[in-house]
Amino acid sequence: MHVNARHYRTIWFDPLQQCVMIIDQTRLPHHFETRALRTLVDACHAIESMQIRGAPLIGVTAAYGVALALREGAVDLEAICTRLLATRPTAVNLRWALERVKNVLQALPVPQRPAAALLLAGQLADEDVAACSAIGDHGLTLLQAAWAEKCRRQPDATRLNVLTHCNAGWLATVDWGTALAPLYKAHAHGIPLHVWVDETRPRNQGAFLTAWELQQEGIAHTVIVDNAGGHLMQHGEVDLCLVGSDRTTATGDVCNKIGTYLKALAAHDNAVPFYVALPVSTIDFSLQDGVREIPIEQRHAHEVSHMQGLDADGVLSRVQVMASHSAVNNYGFDVTPARLVTALITEHGIVGADPGSLQGLRERLPR
Ligand code: MRU
Repeated sequence: MHVNARHYRTIWFDPLQQCVMIIDQTRLPHHFETRALRTLVDACHAIESMQIRGAPLIGVTAAYGVALALREGAVDLEAICTRLLATRPTAVNLRWALERVKNVLQALPVPQRPAAALLLAGQLADEDVAACSAIGDHGLTLLQAAWAEKCRRQPDATRLNVLTHCNAGWLATVDWGTALAPLYKAHAHGIPLHVWVDETRPRNQGAFLTAWELQQEGIAHTVIVDNAGGHLMQHGEVDLCLVGSDRTTATGDVCNKIGTYLKALAAHDNAVPFYVALPVSTIDFSLQDGVREIPIEQRHAHEVSHMQGLDADGVLSRVQVMASHSAVNNYGFDVTPARLVTALITEHGIVGADPGSLQGLRERLPR
């Protein structure tokens, strides 16, 4: 997508510097900065510190991490993958990418592995772009239908209101995004969109990243506090919800950024469609019950007790926003049961959030 009208992916290999480049998302929206990853330690740090984040991008970064480790001279594939797998527990794309890379590399002689790993990481990145673009195409049909239906019911309608949570845009993938891809395609097709952007405490991926992305693409949007969605739905101000996923079970339960479940409950209560966009690499076919089985990341208390922003001098700073010494809990994700999900938008089409529909996608998972 675009940053100041120039096309970027979120991750790429720089052949001149012989390193992997990323956009440092901890500096957005105030500073657009890229970082070079040269080692396994760099790659692990980028994932753990959330310089890069979002399920699909975590997977691709891990694949590049393997390539960097092998180029440094490491040979123990198992140890490299174990280190990368420990970076973040919830997004299953991480495990999927590492298993895929390991399966291919194990079959090759050791001297060939560094070059093959780099090629494979690039291939995973390209596949992610194609998958997200296809999610955008399938989601576009939903948005076109929603807009046509709104105009039929309400001939003076001026906009289609979509609510999204966290950042499931191009910054969370290699390009296009998952939940935001249909919005980018709908905007290009002339549908007058307006996006309600949940700020997404504590890390504010909505206010910091989604709003910035939408701004870059010229899509009308409004940032709201996380608790506002239910109120807007009660007043007919949300036509549909569209979010991403970090792990979806074989039964259609969806794990996404903390607070997603509450939006789904409010949507259900107000008969607002609740859609989840995801590539099949986000489906964990080994799981049946998302609430019981999906590991939920707990992050540092500082993310709740402190906030980052520009101070009066325009310097990016961190301030404490609560009393010292209170206990803090910082769950990163929650699970929305399948019964609250209207449909899943995948690169292979729109499917129901149920075991029968998902079973058909099992064979489409790239291995
Ligand atoms: O903690 P984050 O920022 O990595 O969480 C990201 C999300 O929850 C996204 O909604 C999810 O990864 C889907 S992204 C295409």
